[in-house]
Amino acid sequence: MDIRTWLKNSHTAVWQNRGTLFFTGLTAVLVLLFLYLFYAVPAASVGPEQPIPFSHRVHAGDKAISCEFCHSYVGRSAFPGMPPVEKCLYCHEYIIKNHPEIQKEHEYFNTNTPTPWAKVSYIPEHVFFKHIRHIKKGVACQECHGPVETQDRLPQRTFLMEFCITCHEERGANMGCWLSCHN
Ligand code: HEC
Ligand code: HEC
Ligand code: HEC
Ligand code: HEC
Repeated sequence: MDIRTWLKNSHTAVWQNRGTLFFTGLTAVLVLLFLYLFYAVPAASVGPEQPIPFSHRVHAGDKAISCEFCHSYVGRSAFPGMPPVEKCLYCHEYIIKNHPEIQKEHEYFNTNTPTPWAKVSYIPEHVFFKHIRHIKKGVACQECHGPVETQDRLPQRTFLMEFCITCHEERGANMGCWLSCHN
């Protein structure tokens, strides 16, 4: 082997080694990044980001504000709906009113813009669900929505028919309703 071929070959070998090293390093970094996002940032595994990082844990948990105070129409209308920003300002006119996230509330209020909350509960479109009957029968919010008062950010949730039927069977609730549930 002449010296030039030898040099060229060893050169390539070095570069190949660097290439392997680079990809091993890159893989390690990606794995670590994934683990970090998965474990260190629990928010990454829950529901959509909200326009204001509203926390049910703080409000419904720590401060024990009742669900109906904010979701007032849950027992009355087919659409429980989200609290209007006036509800938030009822307290936040006074409490931590200079907090940057509370400033956003004032902005929504002053510009007459409903807070664009991202929806998290879904139900297949052909199913018609009303809260009223359930609340009147004393079915707790948590039986369907889970431990909302322990969560900072609510996870996305799709209610499948199986979920409805399992409970209706257990409680002996009307099963013939499937004629009336489907519209
Ligand atoms: C009945 C009173 C009350 C109502 C109504 C209320 N809050 Fe609060 N909120 C509080 C209290 C108390 C705190 C805790 C303040 C503190 O940390 O000192 C708080 C804290 C917050 C924080 C800061 C949380 C943090 O992590 O630091 C945000 C953001 C917030 N509220 C948003 C809202 C929004 C949006 C609404 C309306 C949907 C709302 N609040 C309605 C009482 C209320
Ligand atoms: C201080 C006001 C406040 C209180 C008290 C409160 N909520 Fe909420 N709730 C909100 C706001 C604001 C949103 C929209 C932002 C979000 O999803 O976190 C929301 C969203 C929800 C949603 C998701 C709706 C959807 O499909 O997008 C559910 C379910 C819910 N709340 C249930 C409850 C239950 C159950 C309680 C009582 C344990 C409760 N809330 C107490 C203000 C409140
Ligand atoms: C029997 C089960 C069940 C119970 C009990 C229940 N919910 Fe719901 N809730 C649902 C389903 C299913 C949806 C999705 C309905 C839809 O998107 O039309 C929903 C949607 C919601 C929404 C979002 C509505 C919207 O306008 O997007 C809020 C807020 C809510 N529930 C609050 C409550 C509160 C507060 C309670 C207790 C007082 C409660 N729910 C009890 C099943 C339940
Ligand atoms: C945790 C238990 C539970 C879950 C989950 C549940 N239900 Fe119910 N449902 C009940 C009870 C209890 C009644 C009350 C029956 C009565 O009035 O005697 C009821 C009543 C109803 C009624 C009225 C029936 C009638 O007699 O007219 C409809 C409609 C209904 N549910 C639909 C649904 C749908 C759709 C879902 C799923 C998104 C669902 N339910 C999930 C417990 C539940």
